[in-house]
Amino acid sequence: MAFLKNTWYVAAWSDELTSQPLARTFLDEPVVLFRTDQGVGCALRDRCGHRFAKLSVGKITGSAIECRYHGLRFDGNGTCIGNPHGPINQAGRIRSYVVHEAHRAAWIWMGDSGLADPNLIPDLSFLGKAPESAFSRGYIRGRGNYELFTDNILDLSHADFLHPTTLGGNFTRTRAKVTEDGDRVAIHWNIVGEPPSPFAANRLPPGTLSADSWTEVEWSAPAVMVLRNGVVAAGEARSNGKSSHNVHIMTPETAGSTHYFYAATRNYDVGDLQLNARIAQMRDRIFATEDEPMIAGQQTSMGDANFWDLKPALMRIDEGPVRARRILARLIAAEHGNTSDDASLPPRDSDA
Ligand code: FES
Ligand SMILES: [Fe+2]
Repeated sequence: MAFLKNTWYVAAWSDELTSQPLARTFLDEPVVLFRTDQGVGCALRDRCGHRFAKLSVGKITGSAIECRYHGLRFDGNGTCIGNPHGPINQAGRIRSYVVHEAHRAAWIWMGDSGLADPNLIPDLSFLGKAPESAFSRGYIRGRGNYELFTDNILDLSHADFLHPTTLGGNFTRTRAKVTEDGDRVAIHWNIVGEPPSPFAANRLPPGTLSADSWTEVEWSAPAVMVLRNGVVAAGEARSNGKSSHNVHIMTPETAGSTHYFYAATRNYDVGDLQLNARIAQMRDRIFATEDEPMIAGQQTSMGDANFWDLKPALMRIDEGPVRARRILARLIAAEHGNTSDDASLPPRDSDA
């Protein structure tokens, strides 16, 4: 499957990069991630240039990774800097990838490294500003295509059915407002005077029966989503709301699997470490036991088929996901020098 190459993907949370090599596949390419003794985050193709051993089973020595099989050493640029068996030559040079750390994450550029401009990394600076006691983050390896995971966040009506005792309750009765601006899609649920979801109720005075709440998701290609939500007792000013500010970021592993990075911050009880832990635990449980298995099942049902070839029924709840899919398909087609529609693109018109 074609992926968008010339863009930034999250490879890891920054604190996952250590002197212990980390093997992860991105866009079907096996990569080894590590941090040098100088603190520099690096990414190399996870394949030694000598006999193609996995570099990720090697070790970090100073600024280099040493192959465990015969001891060649490579720096973060993939240059061979040590050969215990003779003179150094660059015949086995390793492909390297540009890594840039920002917003608590290590971002990787899988395409043309000459185009890797750090200014193109989405502004998620709110993550870096959050105090530790109001910040949590997680990671799941998801058994489904990354666009299925994107659909999941861009259509939150699923929460009413998949998460009825936690996050769900009001999305289906509320028509989302979808706007498209350039290569971005925003989806906004504005819920007025409804019983709060069980999770939102925790942010309200006990016994609050009616609440106003809002949820906004902003999507940008390839799969970065910023989600804000908040709640007040019905009729109160939103400025009094208890709100959270989150990211959901998908990086394709293969056509049928995804690295799912998520994080949350909040504007209330920011010093409460126990609340922080409870929120993180609940979210980890929901994603791991409800969303991920559902999406894994979708992927199994779809097999290797192209999503649009299966002719999915489209409803108005699909408007946000379909718009995002169209933009991404256009960007991928443009990167491959194909600016015209082809059969793999989503239909232009739907009843969404
Ligand atoms: S396979 Fe890596 S040094 Fe031989
Ligand atoms: Fe969900």
